[in-house]
Amino acid sequence: MKRAVYPGSFDPPTNGHLDIIERAAKLFDELIVAAAINYEKEPLFNQEERVEMLKEITRHLPQVKVDSFSGLLVNYLKKKDCHIIVKGLRALSDFENEFQMALINSKLWKEVETVFLITSAENSFLSSRIVKEVASLGGSVGDLVPKYVEKKLQDKFKKGG
Ligand code: PNS
Repeated sequence: MKRAVYPGSFDPPTNGHLDIIERAAKLFDELIVAAAINYEKEPLFNQEERVEMLKEITRHLPQVKVDSFSGLLVNYLKKKDCHIIVKGLRALSDFENEFQMALINSKLWKEVETVFLITSAENSFLSSRIVKEVASLGGSVGDLVPKYVEKKLQDKFKKGG
């Protein structure tokens, strides 16, 4: 059984993330989408909210499981008996950081392989950060995130989150 982990902050998940999930799901028997508990970042959505959004937007994909993890990604992979990390690559600007993460992960565990999927052109400008900025200023993010996430963003900013 070919299993892969797609890790990320997913704060919140965007159409770009969903595109990578849908395409990766075709390549593996099981894809675990794992939301990181990143102590350095102050997320807009907490861990439960991010997991819930990911579950909701991947309902149509039976081979996708949603989970969260803390600590080192490679330790999580070992626990899941998984050797493959999937990441999305948008532009040259992503490359340096992704290159560094892939190398450190393979240094930490030499049996891990990072597979990059190039983002679809229409999502190449998208990021969770830009989505949050637009939504917080009252702009429409309907074309940038799944409907369910759009609603959650509206609720969050209505409440003054
Ligand atoms: O969506 P992001 O913010 O690009 O995701 C980055 C993430 C969560 C995949 C990365 O920060 C990560 O793997 N964090 C876990 C801690 C870890 O293993 N660090 C060492 C390798 S970078």
